[in-house]
Amino acid sequence: MCGIVGYVGGQSALDVVVAGLKRLEYRGYDSAGVAVLSDGGLAAAKKAGKLVNLEKELVDRPLAGGSVGIGHTRWATHGGPTDANAHPHLDNAGRVAVVHNGIIENFAALREELTERGHDLLSETDTEVVAHLVAEEFSSAGDLAEAMRLVCRRLDGAFTLVAVHADQPDVVVGARRNSPLVVGVGEGENFLASDVSAFIAHTRSAIELGQDQVVELTRDGVTVTDFDGVPADVRAFHVDWDASAAEKGGYDYFMLKEIAEQPKAVADTLLGRIDGSGRLTLDEVRIPDAVLREADKIVIIACGTAFHAGLIAKYAIEHWTRIPCEVELASEFRYRDPILGQRTLVIAISQSGETMDTLMALRHAREQGAKVLAVCNTNGSTIPRESDAVLYTHAGPEVAVASTKAFLTQLVACYLLALYLGQVRGTKWGDEIHAVVRELARIGDEVERVLETMEPVRALARSLAHKDTVLFLGRHVGYPVALEGALKLKELAYMHAEGFAAGELKHGPIALIEEDLPVVVVVPSPKGRSVLHDKIVSNIQEIRARGARTIVIAEEGDEAVVPYADHLVRIPATPTLLQPLVSTVPLQVFACELATARGNEVDQPRNLAKSVTVE
Ligand code: F6R
Repeated sequence: MCGIVGYVGGQSALDVVVAGLKRLEYRGYDSAGVAVLSDGGLAAAKKAGKLVNLEKELVDRPLAGGSVGIGHTRWATHGGPTDANAHPHLDNAGRVAVVHNGIIENFAALREELTERGHDLLSETDTEVVAHLVAEEFSSAGDLAEAMRLVCRRLDGAFTLVAVHADQPDVVVGARRNSPLVVGVGEGENFLASDVSAFIAHTRSAIELGQDQVVELTRDGVTVTDFDGVPADVRAFHVDWDASAAEKGGYDYFMLKEIAEQPKAVADTLLGRIDGSGRLTLDEVRIPDAVLREADKIVIIACGTAFHAGLIAKYAIEHWTRIPCEVELASEFRYRDPILGQRTLVIAISQSGETMDTLMALRHAREQGAKVLAVCNTNGSTIPRESDAVLYTHAGPEVAVASTKAFLTQLVACYLLALYLGQVRGTKWGDEIHAVVRELARIGDEVERVLETMEPVRALARSLAHKDTVLFLGRHVGYPVALEGALKLKELAYMHAEGFAAGELKHGPIALIEEDLPVVVVVPSPKGRSVLHDKIVSNIQEIRARGARTIVIAEEGDEAVVPYADHLVRIPATPTLLQPLVSTVPLQVFACELATARGNEVDQPRNLAKSVTVE
């Protein structure tokens, strides 16, 4: 939520900052702004709406050039998306500019205090108080980093702040608490950004900032302290994907590119983790085997799409390890006083590694003595930093707001974890597990096969663009897949979409069925669990008898569904538990195409942001 860029170096700060903002626009896109230091002064521009509005403003009213600057792309929290509320915010003398991501909870009291001292605050935001406070502290401290430290000690809430001051024109200062900020280390230039995609075109050397730290950037130096000014330890890391990974590469939308990248993302996430004999090697799971052996309960916490991955993981974990597993929305978890202990293993799933609900839930879990294992896609982010161990997914940067490849890799990571837990605990490895491991190794190819057959799904989506509602049904692991299909459609096509466990239909939702209502049904494999399969075939008949238009996703060779499918989408046969890896893909394509047909912004759906760093 909100993208931030800071730059100090030899290039035009405006060019670097605006290019960085373009890569961060997925984080928020309701307004944008920049500030540049030049000729002893500070020049700023900001505009409501997408970044293009700011770019146009910069053409119409160019800013003086300089080589130190900051920028921001906003997802509104306090105050609507107007020019006045856009960042940067300046003090009354126009010497300080501040950009912010997060929420300053005590801003009202600070604002009142500043107003009493004669400050004139011009916006409705919580951020503006920081610009005024920094200006006051700077006037006595004479140093921007020190002024920032003093101000941060007075702030409650979550924040990433980046500031410049016209009286210290070769410095950019950043601060973070509970919100992301990464340093990019270049030669004769340095960067600050909400994530590395903003600067990978310039450098792949990065530094992760810790909680409650302030960083001072000059052309040749990076100095990190805590809020008291004590030098802090930092972790340097190398960004192992290049700039092209964060570009559209010929696709109309990032989402299309990311859907197409899924076979590789799945393969990369498996790479090096299963040896030739089918054994799992997850060296990065630094939780001692003894702790994993002793675990008596697993709790998965996550939000949105990651939560759906967790729901699927539960089936695999309980089936393969026989450890009871609960899955809970991170935003609900800590507020119900959950029962956790030293033998509870908590798995926090997050693409961004910054989702505030998940972060708060994991902190609560650790406070209760539970061990936390993160499944995360973003190196250097907060959730893995604060967990006892992390299993990284290797999806590469996911830019489209709607999650696709991250979801598939979260599933892979969870399957690996479940199998690993089974291995560590000595669960008897039967033929089923060996078949699963073999199948996992080739699942990327199956995903590729699904992608090659998506044209009829796209045509179907276009033909349904005028509809108001689509329902999704599934059983067993197909149920979370149905939830995920509905979520994708809601967020992209802005349609009423709901996912149901097919068995629940008769307990209420069947009343929704009417003539020609599209209902997508995810059909379990007919093999092995044929009872489940038979039941869903009955469910399809029930809805069809009431007029529904059935869109059936079923395995190749499943002939039983043919008479009841108005539209049939074939997926490769896989072991039941792995089916979501192939059955989700048509639903992603379906939602993406429907959104396009309805003229919606696929990569940046309204009201959403990629990384939700507020509770
Ligand atoms: C939906 C989507 C969101 C995220 C959720 C959690 O397409 O992307 O529902 O899955 O906000 O985000 P992460 O995984 O970054 O914690």
